[in-house]
Amino acid sequence: MSLRLSRFVGHRGIAAEAPENTLTGFRLAAEAGFSWVEFDVMLSADDVPVLHHDEELGRTNDGAGPVTAQPLTGLRALDAGAWFDLGFAGERIPTFEEAISCCRALELSMNVEIKPTKGREVRTAELVSEMLNDLCPDLTDRIIVSSFVPDCLRIAQEKAPDFLRGYLSDNMAKGWQEEAKGLGCYSVHPNHACLDAALVTAIHDAGFRILTYTVNDPERAATLIGWGVDAVITDEPLDAAVLA
Ligand code: G3P
Ligand code: MG
Repeated sequence: MSLRLSRFVGHRGIAAEAPENTLTGFRLAAEAGFSWVEFDVMLSADDVPVLHHDEELGRTNDGAGPVTAQPLTGLRALDAGAWFDLGFAGERIPTFEEAISCCRALELSMNVEIKPTKGREVRTAELVSEMLNDLCPDLTDRIIVSSFVPDCLRIAQEKAPDFLRGYLSDNMAKGWQEEAKGLGCYSVHPNHACLDAALVTAIHDAGFRILTYTVNDPERAATLIGWGVDAVITDEPLDAAVLA
């Protein structure tokens, strides 16, 4: 499969410029020149995949308590923009389906991070896989499904095998290579803090592309790109000229 990766991937949309994991964030990411965005998907209480990062409401909206306690109607009633800036008041938590439509319309490629709440790992991965198969059969060259949870990647591998998978890791602990291989991953997505030039080479030698997160310092991004990472996931509209 030929997939056109870009050097930069907008994190949670473009998290430094717009409320994270929102449709407005995707629009602004596209306007800033990004052709890829990353976002986080978890389930509402009634099993609807939605875009949200934390297990608890409150940091990125005016809700409270666990996401898993709220059906979609409860999540949709929240304001997901005013916390960031009053100019974004009225922004809603998007469903995964809305995010797909929005990114499709904006011609944004998607790094779909399966971010299950505890105990919902299997169901989250099953529903995300189903929706990818149903809604995106024509976008297999524009989507990478990633997760920190190997079980989620295993389910994606089984249920949505046409989509590429990315192995997320905070520390690249021993055994990463066997695990990522076993999950048939296309890419490895390490925390940039655990990378050095030798590890970048080792990951490439093992046959994986590298998308590293979350890099907001242009100098650090330039160093990582100098080592050969394929893409840098960033909150910031980094100056492409610095990093070209
Ligand atoms: O997918 C890269 C990055 O988003 C992983 O960490 O916690 O920001 O979802 P987190
Ligand atoms: Mg994420």
